[in-house]
Amino acid sequence: MHTSANIVAIDGPAASGKSTIGRLLAEHMGYLYLDTGVMYRAVTYVVLQRQIPLEDQDAVTELAYQLQIDIQQSERDDLNGYRVYVDGKDVTQEIRQPEVDAHVSVVSAYPGVRQALSLKQRRIGLRGKIVMVGRDIGTVILPEADLKVFLDASVEERARRRYLETQTRDDSILLDQIFKSMVERDRIDSTRDIAPLKPAEDAIIIDTGGLSVEQVLNRLIELASSS
Ligand code: CDP
Repeated sequence: MHTSANIVAIDGPAASGKSTIGRLLAEHMGYLYLDTGVMYRAVTYVVLQRQIPLEDQDAVTELAYQLQIDIQQSERDDLNGYRVYVDGKDVTQEIRQPEVDAHVSVVSAYPGVRQALSLKQRRIGLRGKIVMVGRDIGTVILPEADLKVFLDASVEERARRRYLETQTRDDSILLDQIFKSMVERDRIDSTRDIAPLKPAEDAIIIDTGGLSVEQVLNRLIELASSS
Protein backbone atom coordinates (compact mmCIF):
# COMPACT_ATOMS: atom_id res chain seq x y z
CA MET A 1 0.00 0.00 0.00
CA HIS A 2 1.28 3.47 -0.84
CA THR A 3 1.07 6.29 1.66
CA SER A 4 1.91 9.93 1.05
CA ALA A 5 5.18 11.33 2.36
CA ASN A 6 4.57 12.92 5.76
CA ILE A 7 7.68 15.10 5.74
CA VAL A 8 8.92 16.49 2.43
CA ALA A 9 12.32 18.25 2.31
CA ILE A 10 13.19 20.41 -0.68
CA ASP A 11 16.69 21.87 -0.89
CA GLY A 12 18.63 23.69 -3.57
CA PRO A 13 20.48 26.87 -4.49
CA ALA A 14 18.98 30.34 -4.87
CA ALA A 15 16.09 30.63 -7.32
CA SER A 16 16.16 26.93 -8.23
CA GLY A 17 12.37 26.89 -7.94
CA LYS A 18 12.18 25.56 -4.37
CA SER A 19 9.81 28.17 -3.02
CA THR A 20 7.32 28.13 -5.90
CA ILE A 21 7.26 24.36 -6.16
CA GLY A 22 7.27 23.85 -2.38
CA ARG A 23 4.32 26.15 -1.89
CA LEU A 24 2.29 24.54 -4.68
CA LEU A 25 3.11 21.03 -3.50
CA ALA A 26 2.06 21.89 0.08
CA GLU A 27 -1.16 23.38 -1.24
CA HIS A 28 -1.84 20.26 -3.29
CA MET A 29 -1.23 17.95 -0.33
CA GLY A 30 -3.01 20.14 2.22
CA TYR A 31 0.29 20.44 4.15
CA LEU A 32 2.00 23.30 5.95
CA TYR A 33 4.64 25.05 3.86
CA LEU A 34 7.72 26.40 5.60
CA ASP A 35 10.37 28.35 3.73
CA THR A 36 13.34 28.36 6.14
CA GLY A 37 15.23 30.95 4.07
CA VAL A 38 12.91 33.66 5.38
CA MET A 39 14.19 33.05 8.92
CA TYR A 40 17.82 33.72 7.88
CA ARG A 41 16.60 36.69 5.88
CA ALA A 42 14.66 38.07 8.88
CA VAL A 43 17.73 37.92 11.16
CA THR A 44 19.87 39.55 8.45
CA TYR A 45 17.34 42.31 7.92
CA VAL A 46 17.30 43.21 11.63
CA VAL A 47 21.13 43.09 11.82
CA LEU A 48 21.30 45.64 9.00
CA GLN A 49 18.50 47.76 10.38
CA ARG A 50 20.00 47.96 13.87
CA GLN A 51 23.46 48.49 12.38
CA ILE A 52 24.92 45.58 14.29
CA PRO A 53 28.39 44.95 12.79
CA LEU A 54 28.05 41.87 10.55
CA GLU A 55 31.36 40.50 11.75
CA ASP A 56 30.22 40.57 15.39
CA GLN A 57 29.31 36.91 15.49
CA ASP A 58 28.27 36.93 19.15
CA ALA A 59 25.87 39.86 18.75
CA VAL A 60 24.35 38.41 15.57
CA THR A 61 23.94 35.01 17.25
CA GLU A 62 22.31 36.51 20.32
CA LEU A 63 19.88 38.33 18.08
CA ALA A 64 18.97 35.08 16.29
CA TYR A 65 18.08 33.54 19.66
CA GLN A 66 16.11 36.58 20.81
CA LEU A 67 14.03 37.48 17.79
CA GLN A 68 10.49 36.23 17.64
CA ILE A 69 10.01 35.19 14.02
CA ASP A 70 6.47 34.32 12.99
CA ILE A 71 5.42 33.00 9.61
CA GLN A 72 1.73 33.11 8.92
CA GLN A 73 0.00 31.58 5.96
CA SER A 74 -1.67 34.28 3.89
CA GLU A 75 -4.53 33.98 1.46
CA ARG A 76 -3.25 36.79 -0.72
CA ASP A 77 -1.68 35.69 -4.01
CA ASP A 78 0.89 38.45 -4.17
CA LEU A 79 2.67 37.39 -1.00
CA ASN A 80 4.07 33.94 -1.84
CA GLY A 81 1.39 32.48 0.39
CA TYR A 82 2.73 33.80 3.69
CA ARG A 83 3.64 36.87 5.71
CA VAL A 84 6.72 37.15 7.90
CA TYR A 85 6.71 39.00 11.23
CA VAL A 86 9.66 39.87 13.44
CA ASP A 87 8.71 40.82 16.98
CA GLY A 88 5.23 41.58 15.65
CA LYS A 89 6.35 43.80 12.74
CA ASP A 90 5.51 42.73 9.17
CA VAL A 91 8.80 42.41 7.23
CA THR A 92 7.54 40.34 4.29
CA GLN A 93 8.71 42.82 1.65
CA GLU A 94 11.80 44.11 3.46
CA ILE A 95 13.51 40.72 3.70
CA ARG A 96 13.64 40.57 -0.14
CA GLN A 97 15.77 43.72 -0.44
CA PRO A 98 19.08 43.34 -2.35
CA GLU A 99 21.01 44.35 0.82
CA VAL A 100 19.55 41.31 2.54
CA ASP A 101 20.47 39.12 -0.46
CA ALA A 102 24.01 40.46 -0.31
CA HIS A 103 24.56 39.73 3.39
CA VAL A 104 22.37 36.76 4.29
CA SER A 105 25.01 34.13 3.47
CA VAL A 106 27.47 35.63 5.94
CA VAL A 107 24.85 35.59 8.70
CA SER A 108 23.66 32.07 7.87
CA ALA A 109 27.20 30.68 7.99
CA TYR A 110 27.49 31.49 11.72
CA PRO A 111 27.13 28.23 13.69
CA GLY A 112 25.23 29.93 16.53
CA VAL A 113 22.70 31.45 14.14
CA ARG A 114 22.15 28.06 12.52
CA GLN A 115 21.70 26.42 15.89
CA ALA A 116 19.15 29.02 17.00
CA LEU A 117 17.07 28.68 13.85
CA SER A 118 17.42 24.97 13.27
CA LEU A 119 15.99 24.14 16.68
CA LYS A 120 12.83 25.99 15.74
CA GLN A 121 12.73 24.40 12.29
CA ARG A 122 13.16 20.85 13.52
CA ARG A 123 10.47 21.27 16.17
CA ILE A 124 7.97 22.46 13.56
CA GLY A 125 9.04 19.83 11.02
CA LEU A 126 8.59 16.88 13.33
CA ARG A 127 4.90 17.65 13.64
CA GLY A 128 4.63 16.26 10.10
CA LYS A 129 2.33 17.04 7.19
CA ILE A 130 4.87 19.59 6.08
CA VAL A 131 6.84 20.68 3.04
CA MET A 132 10.00 22.36 4.28
CA VAL A 133 12.29 24.26 1.94
CA GLY A 134 15.90 25.41 2.40
CA ARG A 135 19.54 24.43 1.98
CA ASP A 136 20.06 21.79 4.68
CA ILE A 137 16.62 20.33 5.35
CA GLY A 138 17.35 16.84 3.98
CA THR A 139 20.92 16.75 5.30
CA VAL A 140 20.68 18.31 8.78
CA ILE A 141 17.27 19.57 9.89
CA LEU A 142 15.08 16.60 9.02
CA PRO A 143 17.24 13.70 7.84
CA GLU A 144 14.25 11.42 8.53
CA ALA A 145 12.18 13.15 5.82
CA ASP A 146 10.17 10.65 3.74
CA LEU A 147 10.98 12.46 0.53
CA LYS A 148 14.09 14.54 -0.15
CA VAL A 149 14.36 16.52 -3.34
CA PHE A 150 17.24 18.69 -4.49
CA LEU A 151 16.25 21.21 -7.15
CA ASP A 152 18.98 22.67 -9.30
CA ALA A 153 19.49 24.76 -12.45
CA SER A 154 22.38 26.64 -14.03
CA VAL A 155 23.33 29.92 -12.38
CA GLU A 156 22.50 31.79 -15.62
CA GLU A 157 18.98 30.40 -15.63
CA ARG A 158 18.49 31.07 -11.92
CA ALA A 159 19.72 34.67 -12.21
CA ARG A 160 17.32 35.20 -15.13
CA ARG A 161 14.41 33.88 -13.06
CA ARG A 162 15.27 36.06 -10.06
CA TYR A 163 15.66 39.07 -12.38
CA LEU A 164 12.16 38.62 -13.82
CA GLU A 165 10.80 38.20 -10.30
CA THR A 166 12.44 41.40 -8.98
CA GLN A 167 11.34 43.48 -11.96
CA THR A 168 7.79 43.46 -10.67
CA ARG A 169 8.98 45.12 -7.44
CA ASP A 170 12.00 47.17 -8.45
CA ASP A 171 13.12 47.75 -12.03
CA SER A 172 16.38 49.48 -11.05
CA ILE A 173 18.15 46.18 -10.32
CA LEU A 174 20.29 44.88 -13.19
CA LEU A 175 20.59 41.27 -14.33
CA ASP A 176 24.37 41.42 -13.96
CA GLN A 177 24.07 42.57 -10.33
CA ILE A 178 21.75 39.68 -9.54
CA PHE A 179 24.03 37.22 -11.32
CA LYS A 180 27.10 38.31 -9.34
CA SER A 181 25.29 38.36 -6.01
CA MET A 182 23.93 34.86 -6.68
CA VAL A 183 27.32 33.41 -7.64
CA GLU A 184 28.76 34.81 -4.40
CA ARG A 185 25.88 33.52 -2.27
CA ASP A 186 26.14 30.04 -3.85
CA ARG A 187 29.87 30.04 -3.15
CA ILE A 188 29.48 30.93 0.54
CA ASP A 189 26.48 28.61 1.05
CA SER A 190 28.25 25.60 -0.52
CA THR A 191 31.63 26.02 1.15
CA ARG A 192 30.68 26.87 4.75
CA ASP A 193 31.78 24.39 7.44
CA ILE A 194 28.36 23.82 8.95
CA ALA A 195 25.40 22.50 6.97
CA PRO A 196 26.73 23.43 3.53
CA LEU A 197 24.37 23.42 0.58
CA LYS A 198 24.54 19.92 -0.93
CA PRO A 199 22.11 17.15 -1.81
CA ALA A 200 21.50 14.47 0.84
CA GLU A 201 22.81 11.06 -0.22
CA ASP A 202 19.27 9.80 -0.69
CA ALA A 203 17.92 12.96 -2.33
CA ILE A 204 16.35 12.90 -5.77
CA ILE A 205 18.11 15.55 -7.83
CA ILE A 206 16.03 17.39 -10.42
CA ASP A 207 17.50 19.87 -12.87
CA THR A 208 14.67 22.36 -13.39
CA GLY A 209 16.38 24.04 -16.37
CA GLY A 210 14.01 23.99 -19.32
CA LEU A 211 11.17 22.48 -17.28
CA SER A 212 7.93 24.33 -16.54
CA VAL A 213 6.67 24.79 -12.99
CA GLU A 214 3.87 22.39 -13.82
CA GLN A 215 6.28 19.69 -15.01
CA VAL A 216 8.39 19.88 -11.85
CA LEU A 217 5.32 20.02 -9.65
CA ASN A 218 3.79 16.95 -11.28
CA ARG A 219 7.00 15.01 -10.80
CA LEU A 220 7.05 15.93 -7.10
CA ILE A 221 3.38 15.06 -6.63
CA GLU A 222 4.14 11.65 -8.12
CA LEU A 223 7.18 11.18 -5.86
CA ALA A 224 5.36 12.36 -2.72
CA SER A 225 2.46 10.02 -3.27
CA SER A 226 4.68 6.95 -3.57
CA SER A 227 7.16 7.68 -0.76
O1 CDP B 1 14.99 32.53 -2.24
P1 CDP B 1 16.45 32.19 -2.35
O2 CDP B 1 16.65 30.80 -2.83
O3 CDP B 1 17.23 33.23 -3.09
O4 CDP B 1 17.06 32.27 -0.89
P2 CDP B 1 16.42 31.77 0.45
O5 CDP B 1 15.96 30.36 0.33
O6 CDP B 1 15.47 32.80 0.94
O7 CDP B 1 17.70 31.75 1.43
C1 CDP B 1 18.45 32.90 1.71
C2 CDP B 1 19.79 32.48 2.32
O8 CDP B 1 19.55 31.91 3.62
C3 CDP B 1 20.59 31.44 1.57
O9 CDP B 1 21.43 32.00 0.57
C4 CDP B 1 21.41 30.78 2.68
O10 CDP B 1 22.56 31.54 2.98
C5 CDP B 1 20.47 30.86 3.88
N1 CDP B 1 19.75 29.62 4.16
C6 CDP B 1 20.42 28.61 4.83
O11 CDP B 1 21.60 28.76 5.12
N2 CDP B 1 19.77 27.47 5.20
C7 CDP B 1 18.48 27.30 4.89
N3 CDP B 1 17.87 26.18 5.29
C8 CDP B 1 17.77 28.27 4.16
C9 CDP B 1 18.44 29.43 3.79
